[in-house]
Amino acid sequence: MSHGYVPVQWNQNKKVYDIILWLAIVAAIALNVVVSGASVPAPLAPSDEILVLRALGDTGFILLNIILAIGPLARLNKGFLPLLYNRRHMGVSFFIIVLAHGIFALFWYHGFGVQDPITSVFTSQGTFETVSDYPFQPLGFVALLIFFLMAATSHDFWNAVLGPRFWKGLHMLVYVAYALVLLHLALGALQAEPSRVPNWVPFVSLVWVGGLHLISTFAGKVDLSKVDSGEWVEVSDPQAIERGVGRVIEIKGQERVAIFRTENDEFGAISNVCRHQAGPLGEGCMIDGLVTCPWHGFQYQLEDGASPPPFEEKVATYELKVENGSLLLNTTALPPGTPRPLVKLANQISEAS
Ligand code: HEM
Ligand code: FES
Repeated sequence: MSHGYVPVQWNQNKKVYDIILWLAIVAAIALNVVVSGASVPAPLAPSDEILVLRALGDTGFILLNIILAIGPLARLNKGFLPLLYNRRHMGVSFFIIVLAHGIFALFWYHGFGVQDPITSVFTSQGTFETVSDYPFQPLGFVALLIFFLMAATSHDFWNAVLGPRFWKGLHMLVYVAYALVLLHLALGALQAEPSRVPNWVPFVSLVWVGGLHLISTFAGKVDLSKVDSGEWVEVSDPQAIERGVGRVIEIKGQERVAIFRTENDEFGAISNVCRHQAGPLGEGCMIDGLVTCPWHGFQYQLEDGASPPPFEEKVATYELKVENGSLLLNTTALPPGTPRPLVKLANQISEAS
């Protein structure tokens, strides 16, 4: 949001959050080094550098599993929303950890030969003939490149320059990078003799990340209904929309619409696409009478789709009307920030709350 919107700035809460996060990261790395160092008898024990390299990889992997779980968890339970608002800081911290792991690996394993370290990552390792010999490091390298692109464009400046849709598409590559990291782990650490990382780790990770995404898609509290295109379409069972919560309406071939029901049982419809980074407004809730984006907390007035002054963001609004007791939505988007009356379902208000 413009004019220094507090929740996405570096406020006191974020500082406390960052301190706790980094204390936890340092503790996890230290614990990993101590435990894995102590678990191998002295003559066979790996060097301190290798222990740190591995601990950085492991800690990065754990962070990635947390980061990818926050979205679906917040969808299932709004209590996780504060973690969602701070996810960007965790993402950048994660990148610093895996960058250190990657650079360490590049120089420790590839820095002393005749080839430059990057060429060496792609040429020096294994064959494609047996799983245990598969060159797993290039997979980590490509994943790291994707994470670099994401971290480098994480600031709102890049969102504005690239446009929310392109930016979001770019950041969806995190799932490609995650798949590459799973393979990096499965074909690397798991093939080592003796294996340091238990075989079940990638499977548990996949079930955790994939399972949460599936559960939140099908059982999440997102109220989504699909309608055919047409000038006016009926909003099914509007009484079921809870007060202060949204419903996402998917109209064939059009941008999604978010319908909200206020505490006064008035209904209003605005675009589902947040102006910040295209977050799904209909999955958010109303805080202090304002529609609040679930991703980073940008807010919009239901009356006209505009952010409250002094902010300047505006989303498209849509007309609603009541006919024969049914709530109808006009599928033509009005220009962003256009006021239109909120409507009430006369005599039909249920006890939904
Ligand atoms: C330039 C990029 C990368 C390179 C060259 C690289 C290289 C390596 C190497 C050589 C190992 C084996 C270490 C050993 O057995 O002594 C390893 C393990 C590992 N890497 Fe990477 N890696 C890269 C990127 C990544 C990324 C982006 C992640 C993301 C989380 C990652 C996660 C891991 C994990 C979890 C392990 C297992 C650590 C253990 O054995 O406990 N790596 N990597
Ligand atoms: S507040 Fe960031 S996408 Fe809506």
